[in-house]
Amino acid sequence: MKSSFLSLLACPSCHSKLFLKEDCFSCFHCHRGYLIKNSVPFFIEEHSKNVVHSHRSDTSLVKKMAKIFLPPHHSVYFQTLTNSHGEGRELTTFLKKHHQLPFILNIGSLSKDLTSLHPKIINLDIIYYSHIDIVADAHQLPFRDESVDMILFKNVLEHVRNPLQVLSEIFRVLKKGGFLYMKAPFLQPYHAVPDDYQRYTVSGFKELMKPYEELEFGISVGPGSSLSWILREYLAIATSLGNQKFYHLGLYFWGWFTFWLKYTDIFFRSNRLADRLASAWYGLYRKP
Ligand SMILES: C[S@@+](CC[C@H](N)C(=O)[O-])C[C@H]1O[C@@H](n2cnc3c(N)ncnc32)[C@H](O)[C@@H]1O
Ligand SMILES: [Zn+2]
Repeated sequence: MKSSFLSLLACPSCHSKLFLKEDCFSCFHCHRGYLIKNSVPFFIEEHSKNVVHSHRSDTSLVKKMAKIFLPPHHSVYFQTLTNSHGEGRELTTFLKKHHQLPFILNIGSLSKDLTSLHPKIINLDIIYYSHIDIVADAHQLPFRDESVDMILFKNVLEHVRNPLQVLSEIFRVLKKGGFLYMKAPFLQPYHAVPDDYQRYTVSGFKELMKPYEELEFGISVGPGSSLSWILREYLAIATSLGNQKFYHLGLYFWGWFTFWLKYTDIFFRSNRLADRLASAWYGLYRKP
């Protein structure tokens, strides 16, 4: 287990101190126990365990093969036209500038290892993917109040059942003056990871982020990418006849015809109305 976050941990239920006892953390106050498996602490209540699967069998060979045969990704970053599965320029620039930050928490990290961007990034997810340091639910973060220097929260808000509770947890654990990098979707098809609950207009997103000082805000993924992804899904659904297997084949097939639409984003960069059809927003914030 990485030692960088041990002193910041707290019971996700009552926020009291934890102590380490053989292969588990125990809470001093409510006496709940949290197992450690393969050096990864699991801060998940019994009732949430059904959403925790192991995805560690995703071998890199499978990924490499998929990259060769799958159609190009359907969306690109608005400013750089690079694949939006990577990281936005605003985040990489910020992390380079703030290389001295002692602890960054990546909530809903998936299996992404971002330590090449910043060595102090700790990955937390509700699912036990590869590169996960902590398994926990964002609705109940296992950290002390005001203990985290920066939080990355990218493409996760739409996947949580109660976004207001998660945002209040993020606010609780972030230090005063700490940073938050957010990405959230506006126009995207339904995509369950492990489920999918909501979308945000520009006004809706800004309203949520009101407790913070806004350092930067913009379109992360633009209208051309919205169209590319939605048209691909539209064609796959239309030609599936309601059959799941045909639908997945359709996504593959129509992906080759629709991916290029994402590059039309280049024409929207200086268009002030582009936010009416954006696919996703990004924002950089500081807790006052
Ligand atoms: C679309 S992925 C985003 C991955 C990554 N942050 C990125 O930007 O590419 C959403 C991730 O959020 C995780 N997630 C969903 N609900 C969560 C929760 N309640 N607590 C923690 N992680 C959650 C999912 O397991 C998944 O890995
Ligand atoms: Zn407790």
